[in-house]
Amino acid sequence: MWRWSRKAAIADFSTSPNSVKITPEPRLLLVQQLAKVSCISTLTAPLSKLAVRHHRSHSLPSLSRQPSPTRPTGQAEELPFLRELHKSQRRLPFTVDLPSPTTALLGFLLLIVLAVQFLLPQLPLPYRELFLRSYPKPAPLSCPPAPTYNPFIQDLYCRVPVYKPSSIYNKSPRSMALAAAAQRVALEFEYSAQDVNRGVYEFIREMDEGLSKQGATMSQIPTYVTAVPNGTEKGLYMAVDLGGTNFRVCSIQLHGNSTFSLTQSKVAIPKELMVAKTSRELFAFLAKQIQQFLQQHHGEHYNAHVERRASVFGPPHDEQIFSLGFTFSFPVQQSGINKGTLIRWTKGFDIHDTIGKDVCALLQTEIDRLGLPVRVAALVNDTVGTLMARSYTSPGKTGTLLGAIFGTGTNGAYVEKLDKVTKLGKGADVDHSTGEMIINSEWGSFDNHLSVLPDTPYDHSLDAESNNPGIQMFEKRISGMFLGEILRRALMSLVDDKSVPLFSDEHSNQNDVHSTTNIDSDSPLRKQWGLDTSFLSITSGDSSAGLKVTRQTLDNDYGISAASAEDAEAVRLIAAAIGKRAARLSAVAIAAVVISTGKLGDPQNIATTSTTEVNEDDVVDIGVDGSLVEFYPNFEEYIREALREIPEIGAQGEKRIRIGIAKDGSGVGAALIALVADKAMKGDVTRPAGGVEGFLGSLWSALNRNLRVMV
Ligand code: BGC
Repeated sequence: MWRWSRKAAIADFSTSPNSVKITPEPRLLLVQQLAKVSCISTLTAPLSKLAVRHHRSHSLPSLSRQPSPTRPTGQAEELPFLRELHKSQRRLPFTVDLPSPTTALLGFLLLIVLAVQFLLPQLPLPYRELFLRSYPKPAPLSCPPAPTYNPFIQDLYCRVPVYKPSSIYNKSPRSMALAAAAQRVALEFEYSAQDVNRGVYEFIREMDEGLSKQGATMSQIPTYVTAVPNGTEKGLYMAVDLGGTNFRVCSIQLHGNSTFSLTQSKVAIPKELMVAKTSRELFAFLAKQIQQFLQQHHGEHYNAHVERRASVFGPPHDEQIFSLGFTFSFPVQQSGINKGTLIRWTKGFDIHDTIGKDVCALLQTEIDRLGLPVRVAALVNDTVGTLMARSYTSPGKTGTLLGAIFGTGTNGAYVEKLDKVTKLGKGADVDHSTGEMIINSEWGSFDNHLSVLPDTPYDHSLDAESNNPGIQMFEKRISGMFLGEILRRALMSLVDDKSVPLFSDEHSNQNDVHSTTNIDSDSPLRKQWGLDTSFLSITSGDSSAGLKVTRQTLDNDYGISAASAEDAEAVRLIAAAIGKRAARLSAVAIAAVVISTGKLGDPQNIATTSTTEVNEDDVVDIGVDGSLVEFYPNFEEYIREALREIPEIGAQGEKRIRIGIAKDGSGVGAALIALVADKAMKGDVTRPAGGVEGFLGSLWSALNRNLRVMV
């Protein structure tokens, strides 16, 4: 006969503790051991109790047969109904103790947790991502306590310098309402480990799709970079770089005696030209800058050219013409080394009639109109230039895998196996000798349909009111063009909410500078694109007492006078959350490229430990450039943290990923490709021996034979 006897057993035991010898069962030891080693002791505790109780209940029959030595003599006789009850208990052949439903449920949950812990890493990614979740990590001891415990918020408080409130009002209901509102908004930007892993999975899928067909969300543009110089170069090469914010012109003088010199100038692109009515307005401006650069830095050559054109001897010879590498940092369908049609504008540019036109031809036309001695020899995306420049200069022999920009825009170019680029087709005019090709991914348009990307109300309204809604959705959450605007919208949502006292005081005593905060009616905070992303870097890294730097910037640049320390703290917390999300999203792109190209091999087989140095051969090299990665505090650390949360990379793989700045790589890379293209045009080329790394290496050594950097 079965019955629930747990309660009776405990009661009986408690009256006669000395008569029972408790020997822990092996099962109990195992459970206790598990409770010690796992973080789920709350689950194992009831289970270990269950085991104790279960053990004790088996001792019940012997307990009840012996008189209790502790029972005082002369105690009253047992009542008749109790005697009956005890008799009936004695008649039982055995007593089986079953766990209560709650304990059984807890045990079952424990089994599931253990199964997930052990089996999850073995599952393929699509199944694994169904289960992945981020486990809140305990905050490092050095962190100041966050007002509300949440790992994401705690981390933000850890990363930014401690703010020590000086105002006696900082515990007032108004201050607390502001702190709570700031934390609520900051939490909207949380991007968990699960989100990161889902992002990587979708990113790899879209990369593959882009390699197999035209018109995919991620363009995955083949670049046709195939020839190398023969190492006897002399002459002047030029590069121009049309990025998001500036236009740079530079020249590289090859002296022919193993040296070269780089000269450059930079000009901000006027806002009205970014949205000009015709392409000509913009490209004429670019040509004008080239002319001014030539006059200023190569006046002799320029004047000689002008004179030659006017003389009876006719137009100049080929060797008197500069070959120019054109870094054009927008999505272009490239059809040759100096040919490519614009797919779409990004980063706030919007000139309708450029779409579908060959941008090299547009620039060449304007150059010719001015009669400049310049030939557009190569078309290069800034990421490709960064990849090439980094590959030449990165320490060791390892070729660079990825060149990435995290600046006004974001994008990456990487080395891909040619046979994966199936959209090129068998008959494509491609040099197959390397087996690889640099692909310009145009990852700014990853997940335009928002299947995995986060979408706060601020992201949503920013996109809706942009000049290209629904496009470059990844870029709109990461890059410098947009982060300031996201912060502006988040802050304005609090300013407009009357229940939140951001930048508002009832009287001067509520403010630690004893005045009342005021926002100018024409403050840039009230205008679209009014808040510059550099402000995020300033406030997130502000370690001044009472956040004075943040408050001064709010006053000087944004027309917000007498902001309190609590206002500044709220601004900083939200800015830090936006920056951290951007870095974690950037990690998604980096991880996807590293995983899909198989550069890490099997992470389980990596023998590095925290104390051992990574072998040079095991390094996966990545070149980066752009204001965010260069100046935003902790950007790389945040990226690395997210990389460790991806099982295919993990802590061991992350150590093998070397991320290095390739400053101004786009300009240098473009000049190098112009040099290659020039040689190719003159039929003076050496075919690569094999592998893009071989190609880059031979280009570098060819240059090294002849040049010495004198930048
Ligand atoms: C463009 C890319 C460029 C990136 C970084 C994006 O908006 O589409 O071509 O590489 O910005 O400048």
